Amino acid sequence: MSTGATPPNLHIGNAPDMLQQFLERNTYSRIFLLVDENTQEFCVPSLVGTVDALAPAEILEIESGEASKCLDVASQLWRVMNELNGDRHSLLVNLGGGVITDLGGFVASLYKRGIDFVHIPTTLLAQVDASIGGKTGVDLDNLKNMVGTFSEPALTIVDGEFLRSLSRRELFCGLAEMAKHALVADKDYWEEILKSPMQSIEDFQALIPRSIAIKWAIVSADPKETGERKALNFGHTIGHAIESFAMEGAIMDLRHGEAVAIGMVCEAWISMQRGWISEQELNRICCFVKDKFPAFLMDEVHFQRVLELMRHDKKNKAGTIRMALLKGIGACKVDVEVNAQEVLRALKYYIAQAC
Ligand SMILES: NC(=O)c1ccc[n+]([C@@H]2O[C@H](COP(=O)([O-])OP(=O)(O)OC[C@H]3O[C@@H](n4cnc5c(N)ncnc54)[C@H](O)[C@@H]3O)[C@@H](O)[C@H]2O)c1
Ligand SMILES: [Zn+2]
Repeated sequence: MSTGATPPNLHIGNAPDMLQQFLERNTYSRIFLLVDENTQEFCVPSLVGTVDALAPAEILEIESGEASKCLDVASQLWRVMNELNGDRHSLLVNLGGGVITDLGGFVASLYKRGIDFVHIPTTLLAQVDASIGGKTGVDLDNLKNMVGTFSEPALTIVDGEFLRSLSRRELFCGLAEMAKHALVADKDYWEEILKSPMQSIEDFQALIPRSIAIKWAIVSADPKETGERKALNFGHTIGHAIESFAMEGAIMDLRHGEAVAIGMVCEAWISMQRGWISEQELNRICCFVKDKFPAFLMDEVHFQRVLELMRHDKKNKAGTIRMALLKGIGACKVDVEVNAQEVLRALKYYIAQAC
């Protein structure tokens, strides 16, 4: 696979400069800037103070966290945009992590049948994954991404300087999606990740371009996810169910990237059972996850609920569970039917390893 290219409307570099240039080239009747309280505190000052063209922008602040990625918050935003005289020539700038880019993309793609939006992702996860590929959406009753659109931003700016205020926990959440990119598409990149010292922000910044290129190579070949794009769901069938389970108020708070890391261990275990990766390869994935992510200690009585939640996954067909599994490191087989017993054994394997 060619992994050198980036999306045509995505730029890696200084966000204030690039946003200023974009706003000088394009005329909008109204500019809205969507933030949460953390990006308001850590990211807005470097933009609003320096980008003249952003001076008239109205700041729309939502509460941080996955719970804001819902239809209620989307409706509130549409109402506020109306009150502030938003029209079809308005622009929405989404400054934040994956919650802001998913929600903001969704809100913009439907407001007055669609207005332009710009993504300025500020978490590692959003920079390498959520802001690329045109998927927008919200959750419905704790079920992930049930309602959404495919809609491309007019511009995406990836500025690694925003990562400086991120916690190590959030950096590792981004790392989970980077590892996913490596595992499904690029064996050398997987080795590069394993070798990275991951101490400084620069260590993480150095890993960003290759991850973006892998994601872009996959989504540009299959924008509507009819085939190979499903590879990007590796770790997500079980991961999303665990994330939904955690959102139901159980055991502990769990980030999307952390749930994906658990899902990758489980789904790699199923890949190993099929003879598609070796036990040694599975062990390396497992050690990587154990080393970097907190253990999520579910009791076996909860496994049935996780399985129930998995039945809502959008990749399923006619009631069967389907997932993307590893076919070696750096390769993937999509649409693999997996039975409930395999899922339960995979969850048991994760719990045994995590303890
Ligand atoms: N659309 C896609 O293709 C796609 C892909 C992967 C993930 N996602 C979605 O992305 C979401 C997860 O994204 P996330 O992990 O970025 O979560 P997030 O948006 O909740 O951000 C994580 C936390 O970091 C804070 N934050 C953001 N930028 C900061 C900064 N620069 N400094 C300090 N704090 C900052 C946020 O306020 C939040 O508390 C999930 O909803 C997931 O479903 C979407
Ligand atoms: Zn994800």
